[in-house]
Amino acid sequence: MALAVTSTAVSASIPARSNGSSYDLKASFIGPFPPLDRHYPTVVNFSSNRRSSVDVRAEPRRNNSIVPLAATVAAPGAVVKEKEEVVEEQEDYEQLARDLENASPLEIMDRALAKFGNDIAIAFSGAEDVALIEYAQLTGRPFRVFSLDTGRLNPETYRFFDTVEKHYGIHIEYMFPDAVEVQALVRNKGLFSFYEDGHQECCRVRKVRPLRRALNGLRAWITGQRKDQSPGTRSEIPVVQVDPVFEGMDGGIGSLVKWNPIANVKGQDIWNFLRSMNVPVNSLHSQGYISIGCEPCTRPVLPGQHEREGRWWWEDAMAKECGLHKGNLMQGDQAHGSAHVNGTTAVADIFESQNLVTLNRGGIENLLRLEDRREPWLLVLYAPWCRFCQAMEGSYVEVAEKLAGTGVKVGKFRADGEQKTFAEQELQLESFPTILFFPKHSSRPIKYPSEKRDVDSLMAFVNAFR
Ligand code: ADX
Ligand code: SF4
Repeated sequence: MALAVTSTAVSASIPARSNGSSYDLKASFIGPFPPLDRHYPTVVNFSSNRRSSVDVRAEPRRNNSIVPLAATVAAPGAVVKEKEEVVEEQEDYEQLARDLENASPLEIMDRALAKFGNDIAIAFSGAEDVALIEYAQLTGRPFRVFSLDTGRLNPETYRFFDTVEKHYGIHIEYMFPDAVEVQALVRNKGLFSFYEDGHQECCRVRKVRPLRRALNGLRAWITGQRKDQSPGTRSEIPVVQVDPVFEGMDGGIGSLVKWNPIANVKGQDIWNFLRSMNVPVNSLHSQGYISIGCEPCTRPVLPGQHEREGRWWWEDAMAKECGLHKGNLMQGDQAHGSAHVNGTTAVADIFESQNLVTLNRGGIENLLRLEDRREPWLLVLYAPWCRFCQAMEGSYVEVAEKLAGTGVKVGKFRADGEQKTFAEQELQLESFPTILFFPKHSSRPIKYPSEKRDVDSLMAFVNAFR
């Protein structure tokens, strides 16, 4: 399949099938996102922004060539500066969200797919968000779909995935949790620890990290979040936003765009749409389920009950974000917290983990003295209200987990308020977050120079000095 990009463009091909079996292809999809989806139904011409009528589903050509890296594909709105260098026009997503506030889901979907081409994918949970796939199909553009297979979904949901694949002639790109992490969690805490100490830990392993891996191969994603799904946490979601939490393939906060095309649609209207378009639905819906997640954490609701009451019903309403859409919580509470106590903002603390040491001023002063340092330390200087600190919470906690027991200590020091001047003078603080490494044999901490705060980049930094 050729992707006609621009006059200076590259062409791409579907990865070859080894013997025509779709199972061969499926296997290669486990792990990071493939650079190009093999199920693209049409040839796209990004430069004209119109799909061609050539249908390549019938007989994909055998071709082993590697598809172009996404960064080399000129999306609409991009300016080709020199032969191979593509410069993205800066988009003001807050303005775009305002412009699209009254647009239809179909129009929003079309905008999203047109802008990001192969670097965007629909996150499909196996519930009524199948509407996203129907809308994508209606645009006539190629699209990608991924699902997070937590290993704990209902059998009905797995069947539904299969039905959807067949109905639309697509292959869903499944993301799986890391086997070693699941093993450790289940061996340590059993299969149902979330009923005892909350769903965050299990969701982090089974959903959030696989999601982060998926998003690291994209520049944008599309979700089925709606405002009416959760008045406590989703009432403010815009139809498009710069993702406040996750990072895309270019790395760094701001490198990923999140589209919520059905944000403004009421649940009832989604169902009217599904019915009128004859879209297949998950059979759990006919058993009283509305919102659907993992089997042990989802139950049907009674007439009149809010759909969210069927999810993590043993927990508080504000805790009912599993981490996939954590930005909703930050916007609502933490980021805008404004009560000041002792010169610091009174918001919930972050970087909470048993693998992280909270240092006070005395602890830091000790650490600064080489003769008192028995092991190397990785330290973040943070402020809990800072969006960038919140955004790197997941990866920093994960790094702390990875480093537990390795001899490298991981800590945090809240450096806003009255500690700020000290941190600026003694700890090279210029902005939040500042990440420092205190080697065992050097008096001066080494400042992490990059904006990339994903786990791999942070680990590479630590490994360079320990
Ligand atoms: S959750 O965060 O509480 O689990 P919810 O079930 O409301 O999310 O779904 C909202 C959107 O999040 C879905 O429409 C989908 O875009 C995404 N999502 C949720 N679960 C998954 C999943 N297992 N795989 C892919 N996307 C998902
Ligand atoms: Fe684990 Fe439940 Fe979260 Fe699924 S929803 S990942 S089973 S805690």
